Amino acid sequence: MRVTAATGDLTQFAGDGIIVGLYEDVGVVGVAEAVDRALGGVLQRLLASGGVSAKKNKLTVLHPFERLPAARVVAVGLGNQETVTLEEIRQATGEACRRLRNEHARRIAADVLGGGGLLDPQQAAEAMVEGAVLGSYRFSRYRTKPEDEAGIESLALFAGADVPEAALRRGIEVGQVKAAATCFARDLVNTPPSELVPADLCEVARNVAVGNGLVFDILSEDELALRGLNLILAVNRGSDNDAALIVLKYRGGADERALGLVGKGVCFDSGGLSIKSADGMMTMKGDMGGAAAVIATMQAVAQLDLPLNVTAVVPAVQNLVGGNATMPGDVVTGFGGKSVEILNTDAEGRLILSDALAYATGELMLTPVIDIATLTGACMRALGPIYAGILGTDEELVDRLCLVGRQAGEKFWPMPLDEEYRKMLDSTIADMKNISGHLSGGASTAAMLLKEFVGDTPWAHLDVAGHMFAESDEHYQPKGATGFGVRTLINYCLSRSKHSD
Ligand code: BES
Ligand code: MN
Ligand code: ZN
Repeated sequence: MRVTAATGDLTQFAGDGIIVGLYEDVGVVGVAEAVDRALGGVLQRLLASGGVSAKKNKLTVLHPFERLPAARVVAVGLGNQETVTLEEIRQATGEACRRLRNEHARRIAADVLGGGGLLDPQQAAEAMVEGAVLGSYRFSRYRTKPEDEAGIESLALFAGADVPEAALRRGIEVGQVKAAATCFARDLVNTPPSELVPADLCEVARNVAVGNGLVFDILSEDELALRGLNLILAVNRGSDNDAALIVLKYRGGADERALGLVGKGVCFDSGGLSIKSADGMMTMKGDMGGAAAVIATMQAVAQLDLPLNVTAVVPAVQNLVGGNATMPGDVVTGFGGKSVEILNTDAEGRLILSDALAYATGELMLTPVIDIATLTGACMRALGPIYAGILGTDEELVDRLCLVGRQAGEKFWPMPLDEEYRKMLDSTIADMKNISGHLSGGASTAAMLLKEFVGDTPWAHLDVAGHMFAESDEHYQPKGATGFGVRTLINYCLSRSKHSD
């Protein structure tokens, strides 16, 4: 989707549709008012009579006939002007664009929503681009009759005369980069598991590196064995495909030690010999969603040319069954020398992440380190589909991630990581076991295992199990892969860049 900063008059736009906002408290204001005037004031009157709702995300589609050159006007409810948030603008735009897309609109325009309220118009424009691009996302690679492949071709954003064009342009640019990265992650998660094995994920990461000037390195199985990243190898033993550890480096700043992003890359999780149920396996192609988020974030960080150093570390494996698969009861020593008794092969994410985190902190000296992983059903059950879990050893890092996540429309709720959970991992024969054996506390005990491998490095862990797929179309999230976490991680990188200015 091409997005432009338009100058001039929205009422003169001659494309397939224009989007304006409606408020419950103040009705039709700013550019929307000019559009309504051209329509003879119908919006205003319908709002007053209750024929149209300005409740959040409520759509009204009007056909202006000769009154305006545009084919249709989509008025979207924003709630109250004074309290409208960026996330509400993102959702409203997504809702409107999904509707316009379904009506086969190609060229559309919009008033920068939130005008007159307390929001910064640059950020509002950015949120609108995210909402528009993410809301019109489709994954039709495998359809023989692609559904309306073309989609919305262009969006022209009109802001009030008081908004500097440079600000509008920057908002659009950042929104485009964040949305593209999120769509990229969605594509990876939507891809069928046979077509995204670890070697494919390596190839994807290599393309990101080549296309964006990143340093790319990969540890093969031989190198993993040589360096003692045996937990990654143990998880992959049931697979005929090779495991790998992907390292991507972006160098844009002066900081000596780079920020570390670690993403769980289980390309398919059958559970291994501790095999999952058929139902439990249906979404397990998405068990590399953390890896996708991290790789997509690297793309965005490079495209935004941020003044900081970031290194991504992605352990890529398949958790399958096979004659050589790891067996419950096996003991494996990870990078750095700690031994783990693997009592359940379905608790594999924490194993590959432990190696990756130990390597990221102990070998690559990254700090702070953030990992993102579809780690535990326990976290999903505790929080439901609204919040993802966050745990960590650095309160400031956790707080900042919660904040930048909320700005992205991705919510994180802290789960406890008290030392008391550690004894639940005591093993009879090894340093620790990979499951607690208790039916409860699973998000915390999983994170506790990871903590054993990060040393003193400030660290935060995002447990995003249950957030990789959306079950139905909603605002800027069509049914299917979400790209969850990408915009939180980009926002975090952006916020670090501002600090070092
Ligand atoms: N990939 C799963 C977690 C998951 C579950 C992600 C549902 C998305 C949706 C993870 O590897 C797993 O299988 N965890 C087990 C751990 C258990 C065996 C201790 C779980 O949560 O059931
Ligand atoms: Mn598993
Ligand atoms: Zn898993």
